[in-house]
Amino acid sequence: MTQDNESKEKSSGQLLPVDAARANSLLAAIVESSDDAIISKDLDGTITSWNAAAERIFGFSSEEIVGKSILTLIPEDLQDEEKTIIARLRRGERIEHFETTRVAKSGKLLSLSLTISPVRDASGTVVGASKIARDISERKEFERRLVETEKIVATGRMAATIAHEINNPLEAVVNLIYLARLSPTVNEQVREYLRLAEQEIERVSLIARQTLGYFRETAVPVDFPVSVLLDEVLTVYGAKLAYSGIDVHRDYQPAQRLTMRKGELTQLFSNLVANAIDAMPLGGDLSVSVAPEGQSPEDGVRVQMADTGTGISEELLEKIFEPFFTTKEQRGTGIGLWLSRQFVEDHRGSIAVTSSTDVEDHGTTFRIFLPYANGLMQDAVAGERGNA
Ligand SMILES: Nc1ncnc2c1ncn2[C@@H]1O[C@H](COP(=O)(O)OP(=O)(O)O)[C@@H](O)[C@H]1O
Ligand SMILES: [Mg+2]
Repeated sequence: MTQDNESKEKSSGQLLPVDAARANSLLAAIVESSDDAIISKDLDGTITSWNAAAERIFGFSSEEIVGKSILTLIPEDLQDEEKTIIARLRRGERIEHFETTRVAKSGKLLSLSLTISPVRDASGTVVGASKIARDISERKEFERRLVETEKIVATGRMAATIAHEINNPLEAVVNLIYLARLSPTVNEQVREYLRLAEQEIERVSLIARQTLGYFRETAVPVDFPVSVLLDEVLTVYGAKLAYSGIDVHRDYQPAQRLTMRKGELTQLFSNLVANAIDAMPLGGDLSVSVAPEGQSPEDGVRVQMADTGTGISEELLEKIFEPFFTTKEQRGTGIGLWLSRQFVEDHRGSIAVTSSTDVEDHGTTFRIFLPYANGLMQDAVAGERGNA
């Protein structure tokens, strides 16, 4: 609405008919062009209007759905939600960013964020509701995949560690069996048992070697600029950062290359960004910097990631690198920082954190130092990991 319209409205206390008509068609155009589904219903739950985005998201045309019950869109096991929603609307309450599941015409389940507001008639009585539904399926899927990746990486690492630890005693057992078989006091039958035992142990040993081999293959070091890697991670999180109202500030000194296991450092930075997003549910700032450090620029790269999130209290700060320590209940795994520290240490670097929960100035800063001389150069050439 223009300045002009507003002043007219104020002076007359009422819209002139011509302005009212203009305002109406303007509102209708806004509703139609919205990316979010905008739906209205009466208090019996009968759908009374349906915009273009609603057609796109749910797959029903407005001819098909207007006049039908809103329950058409609610999965069977969630139909009780509607009673609660209606009760709250009758009390004049508004429901904001309610994350739930609805069902499309095709039967596909949709993850939606709903904002539902009561609609009143001229006398102020609640007569229905308007509902704005945002499709968050992609975001949900993204979050699910992230937790999954974190688990896979942790499991892979655990498997490799176990495989490595198992291999040494296994070799000893194979040798002992070999010696036992050669012993002249062993009779034929025992010799046969020992031969079978040797065969089975060879199988276990093969599984262990393969597991280790797989892990090594996915961890071959490459030469790569740290800031480009950070940009890749920030791009992956771009939509989520924007959605969460977080402004990203980059301060990169000219590209610092490093021999690195790219998968591990990607996971490291992803963990830090994901944690920062979780810590800023109301938006904020994420400052990322990369700079050379040390007397000579050859020494290493310093990466800093600072958020203006909730901060971490002093008691908890000691615990955050422990495996399975999380304050996020079902949403967290508590292995992100534990893994992050391992990745940094595998690159012979260090990670430190400072945090403040001060109301005036809260936030968390992670500082990571990654030396150029991290011993991975030889591995990169040999393509093998010297962890025997
Ligand atoms: N940037 C941050 N701001 C506030 N708290 C954080 C931040 N990073 C980590 N934390 C705290 O450390 C805990 C452990 O983090 P992490 O190991 O990544 O596990 P998860 O994210 O699965 O909880 C988090 O649950 C949170 O309490
Ligand atoms: Mg985490």
